[in-house]
Amino acid sequence: MAIATFSFVAAALLVASAGAMTDNSATVLSKAMKTMVASDFVYEPLVKNSDVNSSLSQPRMVEQWKALEGQGIAQSYFKLGACSLRPPHVHQFAAGLLYVISASNLSVGFVTNNGTAVTNYISTGASTLFPQGLIHYQQNLGCNTATYTISYNSENPGTQVVVPALSKLPVFGASLGLDANSSKSAMSSVPAAPFVDSSDPLCVARCKLSGPVPAAAVGGR
Ligand SMILES: *[C@@H]1O[C@H](CO)[C@@H](O)[C@H](O)[C@H]1NC(C)=O
Ligand SMILES: *[C@@H]1O[C@H](CO)[C@@H](O)[C@H](O)[C@H]1NC(C)=O
Ligand SMILES: *[C@@H]1O[C@H](CO)[C@@H](O)[C@H](O)[C@H]1NC(C)=O
Ligand SMILES: *[C@@H]1O[C@H](CO)[C@@H](O)[C@H](O)[C@H]1NC(C)=O
Repeated sequence: MAIATFSFVAAALLVASAGAMTDNSATVLSKAMKTMVASDFVYEPLVKNSDVNSSLSQPRMVEQWKALEGQGIAQSYFKLGACSLRPPHVHQFAAGLLYVISASNLSVGFVTNNGTAVTNYISTGASTLFPQGLIHYQQNLGCNTATYTISYNSENPGTQVVVPALSKLPVFGASLGLDANSSKSAMSSVPAAPFVDSSDPLCVARCKLSGPVPAAAVGGR
């Protein structure tokens, strides 16, 4: 019985390794990869932001980086200014694994399927998970710029920023319980930028920032 089990396992391993070899052309070497040179396996961001205090997102997804094709993986690099918010968004096709390169207090959170908020305050060296398809955010409550990466288990994670997306629908105001006038003013206050600066009044005061003081409105401004 033990011998039979052993040879079954050995046979399975042989089949698996043979399979892995014949699979090379389909998985390890994507169509695009066959024509690639060594430097194509290194990603150099096109958008470089030298202002240390302003926010920046540098996606390294298949759209920007062909080597990822067929690999089911991607990454983004973020720089989030003091008191800035990366507003609630979802990745329809991937979970996100955030790693903090440098932050004193990064507020991160998501809402579970049953409507429970999960929030944490993390700092340099920590990792946190955003489950696939759930609304989540990052907010820098520290007075120095936060830097972090997020890795995704898809080469094309898909990103939809919740409030701007919602504001495109004719039922935006109605879904917030607003009358027509309030709905119009809420819509005009939805930030277009990918980041919301001065997103937390206590943080702005603590860090003595001179930027715009946030007003209570839809979208976090
Ligand atoms: C960036 O922010 C830090 C901390 O608030 C400040 O000391 C520094 O002067 C800022 N640097 C620039 C270039 O604005
Ligand atoms: C981070 O900010 C939150 C919210 O203001 C606060 O409760 C927490 O104590 C802060 N953590 C650190 C390490 O400063
Ligand atoms: C939602 O899930 C959380 C965590 O699993 C649980 O603690 C909570 O009771 C649940 N809430 C509802 C309304 O089911
Ligand atoms: C909406 O604004 C218009 C024009 O400013 C005003 O006449 C109207 O009374 C307002 N409606 C409500 C429900 O506040």
